[in-house]
Amino acid sequence: MAFPDTDPTLPFSPAAIRAAAQVLRAGGIVAVPTETVYGLAADATEPQAVARIYAAKGRPSFNPLIVHVPDLAAAEAIAEFDAEALALAGAFWPGPLTLVRPVRRDSGIAALVTAGLDTVAIRVPRHRAMQALLGETGRPLAAPSANASGGISPTRSQHVRASLGPAVPILDDGATEAGVESTIVAGRTILRPGPVTAAMLAEVLGEVEQGPEAPAIVTAPGQLASHYAPRKPLRLNAMRAEADEWLIGFGAVTGQDTLSASGDAVEAAARLFDALHRADASDRPRLAIAPIPAEGIGDAINDRLRRAATR
Ligand code: TXA
Ligand code: MG
Repeated sequence: MAFPDTDPTLPFSPAAIRAAAQVLRAGGIVAVPTETVYGLAADATEPQAVARIYAAKGRPSFNPLIVHVPDLAAAEAIAEFDAEALALAGAFWPGPLTLVRPVRRDSGIAALVTAGLDTVAIRVPRHRAMQALLGETGRPLAAPSANASGGISPTRSQHVRASLGPAVPILDDGATEAGVESTIVAGRTILRPGPVTAAMLAEVLGEVEQGPEAPAIVTAPGQLASHYAPRKPLRLNAMRAEADEWLIGFGAVTGQDTLSASGDAVEAAARLFDALHRADASDRPRLAIAPIPAEGIGDAINDRLRRAATR
């Protein structure tokens, strides 16, 4: 079984799960229900696959994404857990709770998933379709809500189709249960309220705090305060490097590194945060980057670079 060419939607079945897993293993994206909302999934270890999520959503900026794993053991291979996080996982996983935890160095998670941060948002979903897909692929799956940027989160496959257009493969398993996104918790702080309530969390943690005034979680794109930003000054739209600069090239502009020698914006997005980290770690005191065309996913790259340059 494979996804049909027109309206590529398959109802949940073992064969449909195998078809969806095949798309994901080949670096593609698939919309899949969870108990909260439909997510747009990609292999979280493959930067190009993750970049396709942003391209499909038309996100004008890079928000870090939630990583979905089948169980706590898989989560512990990716993130560090303390006693409180283990207690929360024990109480609410599988289920609609996302934990923000320090990411392990050997996690294998693409930097684009975490927007270059040293923390990762991770959860063990309960829904049979997402669980089956995690089992079949054997990969951690990054998945934001499966709607176009600025749209509302989809609770039915028809919402996904209407929002993301005719090309995205959808695994259809009816309406989702919760209809709102998972609760996000960092330490004892609720970053995003959701189906696991403050009272439910307090029963496990003793006390909880509501999230910060300037939200770490954004509904309007691009407002996240906690993106990775280079420590060194960054010059935009550079055609060549000054003597003390580390130049990140693109297309015909070559430097110490390149986002994409062929000028491919999806590849550039996939490499962006790794390239910034490498540039920061280099022996040159200043950074420069070639112009990136401001179209498609190039908008998100430019948004990110403007923030990195004006801090
Ligand atoms: O229910 C859900 O959580 C759905 C389903 C598909 O799992 N997913 C979802 O993902 O709502 P998304 O990408 O729409 O929202 C993820 C939120 C974003 O607001 C992002 O800023 C935050 O999680 N986030 C991700 N990683 C983070 C991190 N390391 N620190 C703080 N916030 C993080
Ligand atoms: Mg969303």
